[in-house]
Amino acid sequence: MTDVVNIFNSWQFSFQSLAYIAAALLFILALAGLSRQATAQRGNRLGMVGMALVLVATIIFVISFAGENQLTSALLIVLALGIGAGVGIPLARKVEMTGMPELIAMLHSFVGLAAVLVGYNSFIIVPGSDSPENAFHMGEVGLAVFIGAVTFTGSIIAYLKLSGRMSGRPLTLPGRNWLNLGALLASVVLIVWFAYTRSLAMGMIPLVLLTIVALLLGLHLVAAIGGGDMPVVVSMLNSYSGWAAAMAGFTLGNDLLIIVGALVGSSGAYLSYIMCQAMNRSFISVILGGFGSDGGVAEERDYGSHREISAAEVADMLKDAHKVVITPGYGMAVAQAQYPVADLTRRLRDLGVDVSFAIHPVAGRLPGHMNVLLAEANVPYDIVYEMDEVNDSLGEADVVLVIGANDTVNPSAEEPGSPIAGMPVVKVWEAKNVIVFKRSMGNAGYAGVQNPLFFNENTQMLLGDAKESVNQINAAL
Ligand code: TAP
Repeated sequence: MTDVVNIFNSWQFSFQSLAYIAAALLFILALAGLSRQATAQRGNRLGMVGMALVLVATIIFVISFAGENQLTSALLIVLALGIGAGVGIPLARKVEMTGMPELIAMLHSFVGLAAVLVGYNSFIIVPGSDSPENAFHMGEVGLAVFIGAVTFTGSIIAYLKLSGRMSGRPLTLPGRNWLNLGALLASVVLIVWFAYTRSLAMGMIPLVLLTIVALLLGLHLVAAIGGGDMPVVVSMLNSYSGWAAAMAGFTLGNDLLIIVGALVGSSGAYLSYIMCQAMNRSFISVILGGFGSDGGVAEERDYGSHREISAAEVADMLKDAHKVVITPGYGMAVAQAQYPVADLTRRLRDLGVDVSFAIHPVAGRLPGHMNVLLAEANVPYDIVYEMDEVNDSLGEADVVLVIGANDTVNPSAEEPGSPIAGMPVVKVWEAKNVIVFKRSMGNAGYAGVQNPLFFNENTQMLLGDAKESVNQINAAL
């Protein structure tokens, strides 16, 4: 009988190890697939299969080691899965493409919270002893709680900023860099203190203090970053959530969690780096909560008056043009105007007009947001250019159509002191004529900065919903 139990247990161990290795490979293949639009769906599916495999392996493992409590463990797992699926499935179904960054920020906060809870749990079960291994384990727990707590509050602030429930303006407390540095040093001291405690009561003091300092640090790090830099913050929190998961993996002795956490942590860090380069931001400055930037605040200025134009007039202007460039932004996604825009492109090309697209790297609310929308509407890939490919030739365009873009075409990015100073923008103002599609003159772009482009002599505003406006132009053509 003992032999049978041993064989069963070793079978479970082998199955779990095999499942973990297979899942780790599937996650690596998923990341590779997600790096290109053409293979992204396949990458997603591989990730889903990997995750399903891990869930099955974990459930079998937990239940088989629960001894007499097998039924309770099984019920608890089913309950947890039920609650997670009950919240997650309706949320994922209902979320709009434009709301994805908020959802992602919220999910990162769960990872952070999970790392904190795992850390506390592991400390309560094994509260400290005299062995050197234990000091090491306590250090891991301290780090997991620290990274998890920073990720938790940082992600909540990111969620509030992205969803517009909190102002996108950077919070500039006096001596904010010193505050961050002080919190970091205090955390190191508290982790060392915690690692040398030998009882639950003594260890709880530095652990709770560490949690409070880390929660405040996460809050301040993200609150100090301005609206325009939020894309970088989201990918940075993605990276932090990966490291938090990896630390939880160390505390739980779970190799797969360490591998997956490290994959998410490093790919998130690399994405943040690429986005910083695209937005001309210092990577170090952003991960340190705006270190070295003055968090510029837009000054109030009178830009004069704007000129409006009708859809029929725009249609006439387009018919006479040789070269037309379309610069879409978040408003095209909100209005779901990509289909009429694709239709407009076809009509103009049929009339012999040279039409191309200029895409800013952070236009919309997701990396590649505009490319996905245009591909969805079957706009040919070969006329869709990255900003850098066309920025120097925009002066040759007879008309630039700015469809729901604002920050990404804001010339004040070239003025020192502006909150978006230094961010590369599409230089649409160099074209002979600029038509801006926007619902009203009242709202600023995502970064909350007024756009002087709207008041230029060669700019005319076509006010209204972008989809309706483009439909009207198509009708007039
Ligand atoms: P935004 O600066 O967000 O401006 C959007 C423009 O679209 C506004 O002028 C808005 O004016 C207009 N608009 C909204 N709904 C519309 C509708 N139905 N019809 C017509 N116009 C409409 O857009 P952007 O230039 O794409 O810049 C993106 C911003 O988001 C950047 O600051 C970027 O840093 C930030 N961000 C980007 C990402 C990524 S990764 N792409 C993630 C998070 C944040 P009205 O309201 O007056 O219509």
